[in-house]
Formats: sequence, structure tokens, C-alpha cells
Amino acid sequence: MRAMTQADVDVVLAIELAVQRFPWTRGNFIDALTNGYVCHVDEEGGEIRAYAILIQVLEEAELLNIGVAAGQQRKGLGRAMLTGMLNMAQEKNIRRVFLEVRSSNTAAIALYRSAGFSEIGVRRGYYQNANGGEDALTMACELTQYSSLPQAGERPGERANG
Ligand SMILES: CC(C)(COP(=O)(O)OP(=O)(O)OC[C@H]1O[C@@H](n2cnc3c(N)ncnc32)[C@H](O)[C@@H]1OP(=O)(O)O)[C@@H](O)C(=O)NCCC(=O)NCCS
Repeated sequence: MRAMTQADVDVVLAIELAVQRFPWTRGNFIDALTNGYVCHVDEEGGEIRAYAILIQVLEEAELLNIGVAAGQQRKGLGRAMLTGMLNMAQEKNIRRVFLEVRSSNTAAIALYRSAGFSEIGVRRGYYQNANGGEDALTMACELTQYSSLPQAGERPGERANG
């Protein structure tokens, strides 16, 4: 995992367009980089396979985006990326990470739960789409409850001290 740069945006955008139902634009990624959001990619052998973007506000943060290339999904990369971002957040003294997710995005919801997020609210009809509104689930992960965060492939409940 390394910091995303503007040179990565073409590849990240191509992944985003392929995997997200409602993708960010190039401008969204450029804004995230220029505004100092925490933007990281997973790269192996020169190939960018995943990315995640977090915004910090004092002791809290919001996970704004996470995506894994279509051919690389279900290999643990999403969880590794997410736990990497949470560990980084903990190092920045962030105490709590929020996110919002479409209620239909069962893959992402399962990933977030497995990484220690729990649902704290629902915004009815928050996302607009062709069929009308779709609910947003608000989820939160308290970083202070772990002495160290779960590693890739390890769930919080599996930890002896978790
Ligand atoms: C959500 C996403 C990031 C998951 O990444 P991934 O690398 O495929 O996920 P992992 O292999 O790390 O899986 C971690 C856990 O997530 C859940 N999960 C991932 N994909 C899933 C799917 N298709 N169906 C159900 N659960 C899924 C499972 O709980 C999985 O744990 P398990 O393998 O032990 O069962 C990926 O599917 C993706 O990029 N989706 C499109 C973009 C998106 O929706 N982003 C979130 C909103 S911004």
C-alpha cells in the first residue's frame, strides 16, 4: 500500500468506472488529492489493484471510497486495504471512522462488518437513482476499542483480546 499520486488517477478511475455502480469522476479524485485527503493504492508488480480514500476531521474520519479491480476481488484485497487505512487512521490519533454505504451493496456491508464496523443509522432515500431513492446505512468503527487493529484475514471477534 502506498500514497496515491495524480499519476495514478487514470488507472484508479478506470477501476472505479468498472466496479462502482455510481462512480466518482476524475475531478472527484483530483479534488481528494489536492485537498489532502488520505488517498492510498495497493500496487503489486507495477499494477494498481485497489484504492481507498479517507477524510480526517480532527479525531474522526470518514471513509469516502474503496474499490478493488474487478479481476482482483474476493482475494482479501478489500479487507487488507480497509484494515491498512484503519491502522493508518489510528496512527493519526483518529478515534472513530464513519462511512455511508448503499443498503443494496451487500459485498461492501459484509466487508465493513468483518473489519469491525457496525451500523449506527439509516438515511432513508439518501441516494437518488433511476428507481427513486435508496437508503444509506451509516456505519462506524471505534478505533479505541482495539489494542491493535485486526490484520488482513483476521476478524475482530477472533482476537483473544478483541
Ligand atoms: C466491496 C469490495 C471493496 C470488496 O473487496 P474484495 O477485495 O472483493 O473483498 P475481500 O476479498 O477482501 O473480502 C472481504 C469480505 O468482504 C465480504 N465480501 C466481499 N465481496 C463479497 C461479495 N461479492 N458478496 C458477499 N460478501 C463479500 C466478505 O465478508 C469477505 O470476507 P470472506 O471472503 O471471508 O467471506 C469490492 O467488492 C469492490 O470493489 N466493490 C465495488 C466498489 C464498492 O462497492 N465499494 C464500496 C462502496 S464505496
